[in-house]
Amino acid sequence: MTEDIKDDSVVLLKKLEQIAMECRKCRLASSRTNVVFGVGNPEANLLFIGEGPGRDEDLKGEPFVGRSGKLLDRLCEEELGMTRKDFYIANVVKCRPPDNRDPLDDEIQACRGFLEKQIEIINPKVIVALGNYSTRFVLNKTEGIKALRGKIYSINERYVVPTYHPAAALRAGATVVAQMRADFIRAKMALCNN
Ligand code: URA
Repeated sequence: MTEDIKDDSVVLLKKLEQIAMECRKCRLASSRTNVVFGVGNPEANLLFIGEGPGRDEDLKGEPFVGRSGKLLDRLCEEELGMTRKDFYIANVVKCRPPDNRDPLDDEIQACRGFLEKQIEIINPKVIVALGNYSTRFVLNKTEGIKALRGKIYSINERYVVPTYHPAAALRAGATVVAQMRADFIRAKMALCNN
């Protein structure tokens, strides 16, 4: 039975990815190199959601492979004892906004079905929302990450842990990295909760 569920998640995610590869619903399609759909364990208990691909991710077709990704990997190893095979990583928008600008509202709306479906298929127990865009997406709130982080939310039978985006932590320095570490420990507690 568990094997069936696993196979289903793999197949369903693959089908969804194929649809995303062809997507031209918003302007980002015309400047992208690759669609950055997501990577990791399709039946993970833990899902990280970022904002959108940057230059490195657009070139490689994989989320968080640049400097932000290195910090994310380090915090996962040090605070959760996990590597990329243990969780799944996706973004709010699957194509790179030019010059690393923020994604626009109509781009987020055009892409939202993909992330909603990824969440449904993976069915994670815990979502860690990285930064403003993913936190607002998952919690359906308008406040910023500074106001929303620091606690565990329970929503639609999942736990949501908002934290800073690693790029913001790299810019801001040690205090923000320490706050991210505290949020990762919250995620670990949520994973252990029955
Ligand atoms: N920033 C994001 O939000 N996502 C990525 O995949 C890379 C950088």
